[in-house]
Formats: sequence, structure tokens, C-alpha cells
Amino acid sequence: MLKENVEKLMPETSADAVPAPSPRELVRLDRLCYSYGSHQVLKNISASFLAGKIYAIVGRSGAGKTTLLSVMSGLTDPTSGSLYVNGEDIRKEDKYIYRSHTVGVIFQSYNLLNKLTALENVVLSMEISLRNQGTHYDRAALQEEARRLLDRVGLTPDEMDRRVLKLSGGQQQRVAIARALACQPDILLADEPTGSLDQETQAEIMTLLKDLAREGKCVIIVTHSPEVAGMADEQITLTQAKKTA
Ligand SMILES: Nc1ncnc2c1ncn2[C@@H]1O[C@H](COP(=O)(O)OP(=O)(O)O)[C@@H](O)[C@H]1O
Ligand SMILES: [Mg+2]
Repeated sequence: MLKENVEKLMPETSADAVPAPSPRELVRLDRLCYSYGSHQVLKNISASFLAGKIYAIVGRSGAGKTTLLSVMSGLTDPTSGSLYVNGEDIRKEDKYIYRSHTVGVIFQSYNLLNKLTALENVVLSMEISLRNQGTHYDRAALQEEARRLLDRVGLTPDEMDRRVLKLSGGQQQRVAIARALACQPDILLADEPTGSLDQETQAEIMTLLKDLAREGKCVIIVTHSPEVAGMADEQITLTQAKKTA
């Protein structure tokens, strides 16, 4: 609702007591189904995801967590049911724009280019996105922005200039998060983001993801770890072809 409409509705005497704006729904799944041929993996999943919150999608191996993330990242359309993003049915959206502006994806295996530095990985991702859009860019400005993002996720200047191969798993995951943030997405999707990290690093990465949610992003992670799921604001449990929560 527009601010002026809210003000019009407010009684004059309570001008100080303007209520907090209601959280913004970024993603809605409406009876979403997905099948690989005749194998139905996701059945009638309905859920709502708000800006500013972190969600954990949990379930056993094979429950369809990665499949759901693929649908939510726009890689593939639901077989039936709908996925709404910012109120728009994803089927009608330009998937390229959706994937390069609205969602940032963090892969379990990081998918970084090991021979490049952390900084080069983030800059390259920015360049590809801008080049594909035909947008002119200034490389120095991109490097500055990439350094800002890498600083945001906790890398030191020395680590930024180190080849990915020479970074720890936790540092590589931070680079992958910075790269996902490069397109300034509203929604961050992560498949098992702490899957190959030790407990302490896992907690640090979860703290970072939670902070990004507090800054207004909608963070959705897939995990099979009850401990990681417990750190999220909400959990959505997938059982095979059935949603239980
Ligand atoms: N590309 C594919 N083609 C056919 N079946 C697939 C494909 N990807 C996954 N599956 C099947 O879909 C089910 C769910 O897989 P997945 O989404 O990877 O589950 P999870 O991430 O929860 O372990 C599994 O039975 C898996 O074998
Ligand atoms: Mg998976």
C-alpha cells in the first residue's frame, strides 16, 4: 500500500503510531508440482517467502530440494501450479533478466574458477552479466564494487587477490556469496551452502546469510542439517512428493 494511502487511513490523533510496514512477499509457491517425465518429485507445494527473512528447505536426500531450488532459480518451469515472484507468474518473465537481476544462486560446490583470484571471479560474473545486456561498464568501477562486496562477506584485501585454489572452503563460500550478490538480487538461493564446511565455519556462513536477510534480502537455503535449519527463521520440510509443513 502506498505511504500516502496509509496516512489517509490513519486517524489524525494517532499520527505518531504509524505501524511498521508489512513484510514484502517476494516469492509464492502455489500448488507447485514438478516431474521428471513420469517421476513426480514435487507435489502441491504452497509456501510464501518474505523479504528480510531466512528460510531453510529441509528434507532427506531425494526429497526434491535441489529440484525446488532449480524451479525457484528460473532454470526450469513448474510442471503445474505456479511460482510467483514479486507477484508475477514466473512463466511470463524473461528468464535471463530474472536470473541476472532478481535471484542470486550459491551452489554447493561453489562453482568458482579456481585459477582466478577471488576478485577476478566476482568481476568476471559482473562483466558477463553487463556484456550480455549490452551495457557499457568501467572495469575499475566494477573492481571497486567487487572489492566492496568481498569486504562485505568478510574477505581481507589480501584474500581478495589470492587465487581461489589457495582459499579455504569457508573463504571460497564467501566468494560464492559475493558473486551471487553481484547482480544485486532481492532473493538469494543456496543449495547446501554449508555442506562441506566445519561446524565453526558453518556457523559463520549462517551468520553472514542471516545478516543479509536482516538487510532486506529473502534468503532461501536448502540443507539436510537440522542444526543449520534451526538457525533459519522458518523451515519448510519436503518429504518425497509431499509437503508437510
Ligand atoms: N535431471 C533429472 N532427471 C531425472 N530425475 C532426476 C533429475 N534430477 C533429480 N532427479 C530425481 O528427482 C528426485 C529429487 O532429486 P533432488 O531434487 O536432487 O533431491 P534432493 O536435492 O532433495 O536430494 C530424486 O529421486 C532424483 O533421482
Ligand atoms: Mg540436493
